[in-house]
Amino acid sequence: MNLKVTLLPGDGIGPEVVDSAVLLMNAVAEKLNIDFVYNRQLVGGCSYDKHGTPLTDEVLSACYDSDAVLLGAVGGYKWENLPQNLKPEAALLKLRKALGLFNNIRPAKVYSSLINASSLKPEVLEGTDLIILRELTGDVYFGEPRGFDNDHGWNTMIYTREEVERIARYGFELARKRGKKITSVDKANVLDCSQFWRMVVHEIHKDYPDVELKDMYVDNAAMQLVRNPKQFDVILTQNLFGDILSDIAAMITGSLGMLPSASLGKSYALYEPVHGSAPDIAGQGKANPLATFSSVAMMFDLSFKMPKAAGIIESAIDKTLNMGFRTADIYSPDSILVSTNKITELVIENFNQIYNEQELNVLLN
Ligand code: IPM
Ligand code: MN
Repeated sequence: MNLKVTLLPGDGIGPEVVDSAVLLMNAVAEKLNIDFVYNRQLVGGCSYDKHGTPLTDEVLSACYDSDAVLLGAVGGYKWENLPQNLKPEAALLKLRKALGLFNNIRPAKVYSSLINASSLKPEVLEGTDLIILRELTGDVYFGEPRGFDNDHGWNTMIYTREEVERIARYGFELARKRGKKITSVDKANVLDCSQFWRMVVHEIHKDYPDVELKDMYVDNAAMQLVRNPKQFDVILTQNLFGDILSDIAAMITGSLGMLPSASLGKSYALYEPVHGSAPDIAGQGKANPLATFSSVAMMFDLSFKMPKAAGIIESAIDKTLNMGFRTADIYSPDSILVSTNKITELVIENFNQIYNEQELNVLLN
């Protein structure tokens, strides 16, 4: 089977974690008889330096012509003072809109071997397994009019019925396959747009009576995430609130460098680690590729419909951590510090081993 993947390594540690991910993907491909055809393109600051824009049409075409997109990270101090539309981050927003990626899945999974790295007490955190489902192409991020002059600054918080319906449906379907609980987060006590959001989510809920729906104001949700994260299963929310809540959710797991994400639309899908470009450690072999590996697992599951391969990648990550290996960002004195390349090698080794064991089990049973 031929699968086309557009690689957008981006800036900072992006190229290092994407290079590692490609090694892992090749290892998986070898086992599963897949031929990956990679198309590597510039995006973000590096694209601005070469082409004067963070995202070229050529890159967009490459994305349109692929089965999945894998992105590293964009941004860095160097480009901080550029005008808004030329900043590396603008490339992300453009990609989301152009590829129609309205559906942003950010799981906040706690790795038991990293539980002591969190700022929360282990007993508060233990057992937390939630997904922030963030609407990604609407809200104040894209609403018009927007702008500022000397005396005003303004944005428009707006959702259409179609935009809320499609993300709500996805959320209920997702919850159905997990803990059957959705918390819809809004600010309906103040914002009309949020009242509309709540109304439409409740209408869609009628088709999913087996899923429990709870509404929560965003300020309360921020507090509840820190107080008792275990209460959540799927958090469904507007673009802006999801941006903020997903940072909280990522941090409480104690391992920002570990969390993957998927952004899905009707026709395209983009996978990326939640962490940023970390320009201060770029090129030193210190980057943690595990969030990108986990994003690759999501790619196998959601784009290639190979949940078993995804599961083995996740198990290989888990096993590597349980063996005590850590990159610098998650290092603790009782663990073994390794480089980006070394941890990549270990995860691939563990992947092959777990795969072979499972295959053997199938043969023996
Ligand atoms: C994120 C980021 C982006 C966002 C920025 C970089 C545009 O914070 O993916 O969460 O606000 O969506
Ligand atoms: Mn963010």
